[in-house]
Amino acid sequence: MDILHSALLALHIFGLAAIVGTFLVQMRANEGFRTGLILGGAITQLVTGIALVGLAEAGDHDLNMLKITTKLIIAILVLAAAIAAVVAQRRGGRVKPWFHSAGGLAIVNVLVAVFWH
Ligand code: HEM
Repeated sequence: MDILHSALLALHIFGLAAIVGTFLVQMRANEGFRTGLILGGAITQLVTGIALVGLAEAGDHDLNMLKITTKLIIAILVLAAAIAAVVAQRRGGRVKPWFHSAGGLAIVNVLVAVFWH
């Protein structure tokens, strides 16, 4: 169980890096947004986050469900913004507002994860 938990947590951190890293690198850009990376990261966060919750429940670890629900809602918003960014890019629309929403909300989720005990 321990190795599975560590592997999931590592993937969770890689997913976070894909979103926040891409956002920070392209924060001042106006075109050429790497929306696929943001989308991949958002999907990774949802999948690994839910798996981490399942593992904690199976192992009888207590989780703060209000915190987890808050993270889940924010992660769904991140995913929605990432999808909107990909769609806008395909259609030649404005990508930047969606790109910034996804990156900004992911940063909010990092703060929720770290500061809320
Ligand atoms: C953009 C989305 C997300 C970001 C940026 C994020 C960020 C983080 C970070 C930085 C940690 C490590 C610090 C800590 O242990 O609290 C963490 C851990 C965790 N996250 Fe997330 N998270 C996201 C989405 C989710 C979702 C959707 C869920 C579940 C519904 C979730 C569940 C968890 C759990 C259970 C842990 C604790 C792992 C452990 O130490 O056992 N996360 N997350």
